[in-house]
Amino acid sequence: MAKVGIFFGSSSGVTRGAAELLNAQLKRSELIDMEEDFDGIEQFEDFDVLILGSSTWGQGDPQRDWVDPLYDLSNDRPDLSGKKVAFFGAGDQKTHGEHFLSALGKMHDLFVSLGAEAYGYIPTTGYEYEFSLAEREGKLCGLGIDDVNQEDLTEERVTLWASQLKSEIGL
Ligand SMILES: Cc1cc2nc3c(=O)[nH]c(=O)nc-3n(C[C@H](O)[C@H](O)[C@H](O)COP(=O)(O)O)c2cc1C
Repeated sequence: MAKVGIFFGSSSGVTRGAAELLNAQLKRSELIDMEEDFDGIEQFEDFDVLILGSSTWGQGDPQRDWVDPLYDLSNDRPDLSGKKVAFFGAGDQKTHGEHFLSALGKMHDLFVSLGAEAYGYIPTTGYEYEFSLAEREGKLCGLGIDDVNQEDLTEERVTLWASQLKSEIGL
């Protein structure tokens, strides 16, 4: 049975809410709050599947609790080949549409460069933004949620994505 870790960083609770919903739907996964529960990048080794959540802040930057771990990963460059990764997080496509969800794209590129295999891409249909570093060949490289403008869609988006991961990864 694959060990699944849902690691999340969330400043105002939106990405946290999605992480909790995912955890309930995936059942055998473990939740790791980057602020409270994260001990260091060796913790990624404990899991076969890493589901990584971050909201986007600043000019397309990952949420603050991800800053040190991402820095450590870039420096130490551990071999993550064999790991399956998927990304999710909150953003605001209207006020911050010039960098909507860009943190997901940055995290995606780093984990893939370390050998991990990425899952959970979704169509851009239903989102309206100017630019996103999370966009790959017309898709988003993870699940975007936007509680500022589309709160009513969040639960359905998370539920659909959980089903997608179950079938893509075989959870
Ligand atoms: C100062 C500031 C900067 C932000 N920058 C971005 C951004 O670059 N891209 C984006 O998609 N959302 C941006 N947002 C929106 C947040 O990501 C959004 O409020 C999100 O719901 C926060 O999620 P969290 O509670 O999980 O941290 C920004 C919000 C603020 C207040």
